[in-house]
Amino acid sequence: MAPPPVRRGRSERREEEGADPKLVLAGRGLVHGRLEPIEVAIGDDGRILSVGKIRAGPVRRDLGDAVILPAATDLHVHFRDPGGSPDVEDLNSGTVGAALGGVGLVGEMPNTRPPVVDPEALAEKADRVAGRAAVDVLLYAFAPTRRVGALARVAGGFKLYTSPTTGTESGIPPAEIPGRLAPVGDAGLPLAVHAEDARRFDGAVEPRDPVGWNAHRPIPAEASAIEALRDPPPALRLHVAHVTNAAAAALLRARATSFEVTPHHLLLSDRAGTDARFKVNPPLRTEAERRGLWEAFARGEVPAVASDHAPHSAEEKARPFPEAPSGVPGVETMLPLLLTRVRAGDLSLETLVRAASDRPARMVGQPTGRVAPGHRAHLIVVDFRVRRSVEARRLRSPCGWSPFEGREAVPVLEHYRDGERIVEAGEYVGRPNGRVVRPEYAPGAPTA
Ligand code: DOR
Ligand code: ZN
Repeated sequence: MAPPPVRRGRSERREEEGADPKLVLAGRGLVHGRLEPIEVAIGDDGRILSVGKIRAGPVRRDLGDAVILPAATDLHVHFRDPGGSPDVEDLNSGTVGAALGGVGLVGEMPNTRPPVVDPEALAEKADRVAGRAAVDVLLYAFAPTRRVGALARVAGGFKLYTSPTTGTESGIPPAEIPGRLAPVGDAGLPLAVHAEDARRFDGAVEPRDPVGWNAHRPIPAEASAIEALRDPPPALRLHVAHVTNAAAAALLRARATSFEVTPHHLLLSDRAGTDARFKVNPPLRTEAERRGLWEAFARGEVPAVASDHAPHSAEEKARPFPEAPSGVPGVETMLPLLLTRVRAGDLSLETLVRAASDRPARMVGQPTGRVAPGHRAHLIVVDFRVRRSVEARRLRSPCGWSPFEGREAVPVLEHYRDGERIVEAGEYVGRPNGRVVRPEYAPGAPTA
């Protein structure tokens, strides 16, 4: 007797692909920009074997109408480890928060203590990842003037601050920028730049609230720093961090320079609140600027979204505005907040997935960010019918507050890392097996 059709289909595919899946996820997914039923087969090596109408797998998980998406890559976080207080954040709490927020890879910034300025500090930081990180970690080093090669063997990117901010008392003055770009140009790694020109800060303004902070560190300061990056060395993979306004976004796009925007600049204006919880560098801008940035993002004109997760303790943020540190947490809320905009019809899911998952993974040469054969099965599951509001006390970060308190969000229900479930029913159930990653292939075109 002939075997039932499903078995026949299965054996044909086995010949084609040479492997049985360890897991099949059946749900809905993006197919040519539309949500369609899909089945994702995951192999023993944690890679996606095939996507489409599949076979009866040995372990099959039927997710119904829930949506399977690639986990995000957040290229900009500050987990304060080493040298920070675990009551605010560390590599473990930060990466568990990332996992819960659907982020499968974080780019961890070098303004920790000691600062990552040499291979020794970088090695010390890399040692802290094993056994503690819930997701993969790409480490940035400060853009060096020497020992670039030794740093580039461990680092996944470099960072340059053009102005003072947390952990960097002095930025690199514009005149020195070209000299800093040249050495890292040949390393093949991205150089992320914090672009604010301190010469354009308005000393006459005494900032007492976010409106004043925006007046004190205004858009022309950002524009001037971006101008100083006009002619990067051809080999350099320049990436401008946290662009706050549509004019800067359009300029960088015209130059085919990679850049990112943050959820706080997309969703919060300088009138979102009056206290230092809304103090961040670069500052929150006016509502008109925020809307302009949002529109560019929604049109798909922004290569990447990154959280710039930068927690400080509630006590520090309760200080008088001028003395309080800058920075807001956001790694766990980035995707859920933006998924809510998708549900509201303000943003296409495809545009979000490109900016949060596909392009940032390609910028750092990672085989993730797509639900496609050969990619690591870093996948998340969301259900647009489930709504939850952001409550800082439910977030993993010990800092205990969020600038997005009370906002509606679409929670990440499940998160798979190499096909292993690390978030189940919105709870973290994983093991700390995240590792330090470097580009596995030449980083891809940033604006594609
Ligand atoms: O607001 C900010 N906070 N901007 C930065 O550039 C650094 C960050 C931090 O580390 O707190
Ligand atoms: Zn930052």
